Parts: sequence; structure tokens; C-alpha cells
Amino acid sequence: MKLGIVGGRLQGIESTYLARKAGFETFVIDRRPEVPAFSLADEFKVIDVVKQRDEALRSLSNCNAILPANEDIETLTTLDKISRELKIPLLFDLDSYNISCSKFLSNQIMKGLNIPMPDPWPNCSFPVIIKPSSQSGSTGVMKVHDEEKLREGMRFISEMDEDIIVQEFVDGPNISIEVIGNGKRAVPLILTEVILDNTYDCKMVRCPTSDFDSNIGDNIKEYGRKVAESLSLRGIMDLEAIVHNGIAKVLEFDARIPSQTPATVLHATGINLVKLLFDALVNDELDSATPLHNKAAIYEHIIVDGEAMMSCGEGQFSNVDNLRLQIGLFDSDEMITNYTPRRKKWHAIVICTGNSPQEAWTKRQKCINQIIEKNKITHYLDPVPEVSK
Ligand SMILES: Nc1ncnc2c1ncn2[C@@H]1O[C@H](COP(=O)(O)OP(=O)(O)O)[C@@H](O)[C@H]1O
Ligand SMILES: [Mg+2]
Repeated sequence: MKLGIVGGRLQGIESTYLARKAGFETFVIDRRPEVPAFSLADEFKVIDVVKQRDEALRSLSNCNAILPANEDIETLTTLDKISRELKIPLLFDLDSYNISCSKFLSNQIMKGLNIPMPDPWPNCSFPVIIKPSSQSGSTGVMKVHDEEKLREGMRFISEMDEDIIVQEFVDGPNISIEVIGNGKRAVPLILTEVILDNTYDCKMVRCPTSDFDSNIGDNIKEYGRKVAESLSLRGIMDLEAIVHNGIAKVLEFDARIPSQTPATVLHATGINLVKLLFDALVNDELDSATPLHNKAAIYEHIIVDGEAMMSCGEGQFSNVDNLRLQIGLFDSDEMITNYTPRRKKWHAIVICTGNSPQEAWTKRQKCINQIIEKNKITHYLDPVPEVSK
């Protein structure tokens, strides 16, 4: 089975990695010649799907499915048409995506479904979060503590020509769930916990999540199912919530293949979300997935630059070259990295697992220590979001 993956950055890394793990032949397309997923794929081609439509059509014609791994609306719309022309299944739902890329529209849907969300300003007190309605990857997200900074932040976002969301800052673990739908039914999958850097970008994912009442987890899954079924989702989405005082408040959902969380789910449970997505849309098989094993996994990003090492958000990974999968490097389970012994600056996605969260964490610590020791690192920086007052 051959999967055509369009987009070679963060979602492309994730899709290619998972597709290969599931035994697919992978073919990645991107309009830029140096994207990180190229070196992970069996085959790649530099094509601008919008500007070189015929070339894209020809190149994708022998694929068994097309998986869009980008957030460019023109590219997504073109792929939707190409897949119809070629009669090749598209593992993506354009209508749902169009709703989910507006937080304004998404919030309206969730309100209609009675899903708890952060209280909107001014029905809440400081600190508040300000964010643009239709960006992703934490772009433009700000936490502010007073009226003056609120005005400044609002001015900044309106200069981005964006609708502005202002809402209660919810303090607690950030939980994510993927949901796969076949247009009629939707199945929520495995909860993961996302840990942020100082710019609210995701630098680490953990599965299972930290401990909280299992009812809360069930609620988050139910919110995911409800949203997906109300969209008649035919594809994959993720939904993100923050848990505070026993309540999960939903921040957003995004109807596209996410990055980071699916690989963590794979290592913790053996469940491969790309395979499930393909089975749901191509083979018409959509069942609730049973974990093949119950392990714990930690997934994180690091950059090494000379004697310094930094934990970083995924944003830093969009332009990395020569990524390869390296099993067991520095005592990790796996690293997706451009490390070579001679390279001064390198990036890595580090994945460590164990039979319990504690065991996975111990393995992770050992791995970080190995990296520090073997690369003679003298500075290790691990930025976290500002602690709330
Ligand atoms: N109301 C909120 N309370 C606390 N943190 C928030 C809130 N809204 C957003 N954040 C933080 O900012 C990150 C990005 O915001 P999100 O709404 O998910 O937008 P994006 O589409 O950029 O991912 C979230 O993962 C979360 O950590
Ligand atoms: Mg988000």
C-alpha cells in the first residue's frame, strides 16, 4: 500500500513516521526542496500542488490514499479536487477543517453542544489568554494580567487582521485526544498530555496523562466524539482541553492529522493512528481501538548547539534537514534526528518508554544525561510557560 503524503514539515514528519511503522510505502510531496520529512520517506518529490497541478495528479495517481499533512487552504482544496478526479481516497475532511480553523466557529459549535470552555472575557478575571481566531501552533497566544496589556495584545492581534478570542486563563494539565470519524460515527482514541515551552508551544508529550479522575478523561473523550459526530467528520481531528478543579474545559479542535501526539500514542499503546485512519476511510473499518500494550511514553524535542542543549517547542522543527530514525541512540527508545558525531548543531525528537510513567521518566533522564555527557554539554535550558500568579 502506498500513501501519498502532501506536506513535509511537522505533520509530514508525523505522518511519514507513522505510515512507515504501519508498513505503508511512503511518498512525500512538498513545494519546498528542503523539508524534514523528505529524508524519512521512501520517495519524495518537490511539487507545488497548486501551481503544478498536473504534475501532482500524475505523481499521486498510483497511491492508494492521499494524506494531506499541511494547513495551506489552497493546497488542501486542490488535493480535495485531485482525489475526486483520481478516485483515490483522501484521508482528510475539508468541510470539517474549514470550521476547525476558525476558533470563532468552533466555539459556536461547542457552545451548541454544551461543552465546557474557558469563560469568555469579560465574564472572567485576570489573567486572561488572548489569541487570534484562525492561527495554529500557538501563534499569537498571549497571557496578560491587566487591562493595559490586554489592550496592547488586542491591538497586536487586530494588526494580524484576525478575529480576537479573549478568555479565562485555565491553569492545569493540557490534555489532547484524537478522534477518527467515518462520516457517520466517530471514535475517540487515547488521551495524551502536552507540556509547553515558554511560548506555549508543545515541547513534550506524555502518555498516559498525569493522574486525574477517570470521569474527566471519559468526559474529554465524549466531547471529542460529540464534536466529530456533529461535524460528520470523515477523517481525523484532535481536541485539546485543560483540566482545572475537576473540570475539563475545551480550548479547541483541529480536523487534520496532528503532530507529536500520534507518535506518543503509538509508543505507549501500539495503536497507529495513520493505520486506523486508513482502515476507517479506505477499508470501511472503524472500531474502538484496543491497546496492544499498556506502556508509558515520553516524546520531546531538543536542540543541541555546541555546548548548549535546549528543550524546545515543535515550531523549531519545521526547517530541520536530514532527519533519520535512529533506534536506541543515547539510550533512548528512538530518536528522529540529524545528529552525527561531527555535527555541532543538531535537532532531535527523543522518544523514551517504560512499563510505568516513572520508568519512562527514569529512562528519559538517563538519555538526557547521556546526551549531556557524550556531547560535553555545559548548559541545559528547559523553558516553561510563565508560572501563573
Ligand atoms: N484559556 C486558556 N487557558 C490556558 N492556556 C491556554 C488557553 N488558551 C490557550 N492556552 C495555551 O495556549 C496553547 C495554544 O492555544 P490553542 O487555543 O490551542 O491555539 P493553537 O491553535 O495555536 O494551538 C494551548 O495549548 C494552551 O497551552
Ligand atoms: Mg492548540
